[in-house]
Amino acid sequence: ADMPKTIIVSNRLPVKVTKQDDAYQLSPSEGGLATGLGSIYKQDDNLWIGWPGIEITDKRDQHMVTEDLKELSLLPVFLTQSEINKYYEGFSNEVLWPVFHYYVSTYAHYSQANWESYQLVNQKFCDAVLEVANPGDTIWVHDYQLLLLPKLIRDARPDVSIGFFQHIPFPSDEMFRLIPWRSELLEGILGADLIGYHTFDDVRHFLSAVSRLLPVQVSANVITLGERVVVVESFPMGIDDKKYGDLSQQENVKTEAELIKETFRGQKLILSIDRLDYSKGILQRLQALEILLENHPELVTKITLYMIVVPSRDQVPQYKELRDNIDKKVGNINGRYRTLEWSPIQYFYKSLPIETLSALYSSADVCLITPMRDGMNLVSKEYVASRVHNDGVLILSEMAGSSKELIDAVIVNPNNIQEVSRAIVRAINMPRAEQSRRMILMRQNVSKFNIGHWVKIFMDRLNEVKQMQRSMQ
Ligand code: UDP
Ligand code: G6P
Repeated sequence: ADMPKTIIVSNRLPVKVTKQDDAYQLSPSEGGLATGLGSIYKQDDNLWIGWPGIEITDKRDQHMVTEDLKELSLLPVFLTQSEINKYYEGFSNEVLWPVFHYYVSTYAHYSQANWESYQLVNQKFCDAVLEVANPGDTIWVHDYQLLLLPKLIRDARPDVSIGFFQHIPFPSDEMFRLIPWRSELLEGILGADLIGYHTFDDVRHFLSAVSRLLPVQVSANVITLGERVVVVESFPMGIDDKKYGDLSQQENVKTEAELIKETFRGQKLILSIDRLDYSKGILQRLQALEILLENHPELVTKITLYMIVVPSRDQVPQYKELRDNIDKKVGNINGRYRTLEWSPIQYFYKSLPIETLSALYSSADVCLITPMRDGMNLVSKEYVASRVHNDGVLILSEMAGSSKELIDAVIVNPNNIQEVSRAIVRAINMPRAEQSRRMILMRQNVSKFNIGHWVKIFMDRLNEVKQMQRSMQ
């Protein structure tokens, strides 16, 4: 018999498939779930099931891609174009993403057809899991695209352990209850034995939604459904901090970092990196820079905002619109302030190799991260992990999950653009001793609560919950 294994299931695999001139190519996926877990999932006999990020209809092509991914312990679930439109874009990213990030009235688009597709695709993922799961295996389901999956698996295989982790916020019950299919979604999640969120507030919100909307018993962080108990807890996700520390010391990265520093000599370099997303507060950040340049003429030509926006979900209308608005705003600010040799914003709309990210992390004087809402935000932790000389300043939104751990950052309310603008001035003038005092404390946190630790405490807790369930039978 096979050894018990862990099966990770998420909508997106950590590797994405793209097609160029009729040939398929593999490259790393973007987003915290993929980058965070991607660095460690290969231990033991683990397997990761998910969508490779592209529509592939031809059966032979599907077979070929499946074989390539198998080498990496990845098992693809292929989605049709209609499933991509309805389940992924329509339901996951036009209902769940906006509502869970508190963008309810303007962005949520409820459609019965999309809900039906969401149910069908969750079933499709369930079928893929059942094909490979043996009794005794542990199934770890990730994120908001698969909220129905824990229950689907449980109904088919009551014998397996099921963990669920959500990488985005769980909103206040007042937001969540607006979703027409709220009870079905909660029941789906409750198929898991252990449910994890990044922060205590997410846990609290989930528990209050459950106790208000479902006929179950909630006591502290334990939910009792008939005979079964389910535990809900916060597990703040970490990163592979050593990888980022080591990368920053690599020769090619050092050379690239030197080049960046040389290019921006005599200036303070302010870095921001996000996926294209309205939850990331990109436009508000640009406004903050604008008022800073207005109020501080002495800083003109002395600072550069190096802004990377990674393309994401560009078929969803709100994302297209956001991209246009960013283009305009960057154009406006640069048009107004630039000189012959200098422009205030260096803007890139593309995804970068990790070596370049590392070179940027190590050369930026300030890292400016100002989401309106963010489940965790791993970029903030990657910046800290890359600062091996204990210098540099992190400005961090209080709406990012990571602000609960990185309390020694300069914490700001991203809606208060005056405050953000003042924080930038403070950061570029911060004495080295203060930078270092803050950075050392943040680095200790990122190093102690790294990704390996995160996986371990989640899995240990899941085992404990299973034992508790057995002892109650
Ligand atoms: N990232 C990437 N390619 C890039 C820029 C960033 O893969 O060109 C990574 C980044 O290093 C980080 C992740 O994307 O690990 C973003 O995760 P985060 O938790 O900050 O936000 P999310 O995108 O998950 O909302
Ligand atoms: C966030 C979500 C992930 C998602 C990622 C990238 O990190 O929590 O589930 O994979 O964004 O988004 P995408 O829609 O491209 O998968």
